[in-house]
Amino acid sequence: MKIILLGAPGSGKGTQASLITEKYNLPHISTGEIFRENIKNQTPLGVKVKEVMDSGNLCPDDLTIEIVKDRLSKEDCKGGYMLDGFPRNLTQAKALDEFLAPDIVINIDVDIKKIEHRIVGRRSCSKCKGSFHTDFIGNTEICPDCGAKLVIRKDDNAQTVRERINVYQNQTSPLIDYYTAQNKLCSVNGNQEIDDVFSEIVKVLG
Ligand code: AP5
Ligand code: MG
Repeated sequence: MKIILLGAPGSGKGTQASLITEKYNLPHISTGEIFRENIKNQTPLGVKVKEVMDSGNLCPDDLTIEIVKDRLSKEDCKGGYMLDGFPRNLTQAKALDEFLAPDIVINIDVDIKKIEHRIVGRRSCSKCKGSFHTDFIGNTEICPDCGAKLVIRKDDNAQTVRERINVYQNQTSPLIDYYTAQNKLCSVNGNQEIDDVFSEIVKVLG
């Protein structure tokens, strides 16, 4: 099964991806996480993308596409993949179609008005990469899943969120039509509780 999770920033891609990987045992590939790991480790790639990521804009297509192709060539992707945050524009979608096209694209549809609250209150685990919200976990700095330290992402602030939403609306949302035309798009209501969104996804995946 080759799955793409599509959705605005804060729509719940990472949250649902963790649940999907657990149930279906697919490799979870998040380009955002790959970039953040590289920034943390100060690799040449990390140095290259740090500024653009902090601003909420997209990293260069050629770089991103190469990273994804390389990752999809690994042994664990032989049985499928779950891409979270890729593709993010038509250039990336066309490159993926040429390389290893998806079977299904799950679009997590969420009210734009909810996004800022979700993102500003997010706490991310530095170790297991889990995504939590202060609404549910309060002000703790300890990951409820693995006990490591929770951090606030550099791009999780009100100003950068607005830029990320603009980027989503201008560059990523056209993918909804692109995959609808291919008969691969399934939309789920991302405004519901986390478990209810997941139930809808499970139904879609059959
Ligand atoms: P990326 O890491 O992909 O960030 P994003 O797309 O902005 O999405 P987020 O991770 O912010 O949100 P999410 O949908 O995963 O939501 P989550 O589950 O965490 O990309 C970051 C940057 O990397 C980009 O800006 C770009 O610079 C670069 N990049 C990445 N991929 C790229 C590409 N392909 N090309 C070029 N550049 C690229 O949930 C959010 C919050 O809401 C959490 O607090 C969570 O607990 C809560 N929540 C989740 N679901 C629910 C629910 N149902 N109800 C209530 N709260 C919920
Ligand atoms: Mg995410």
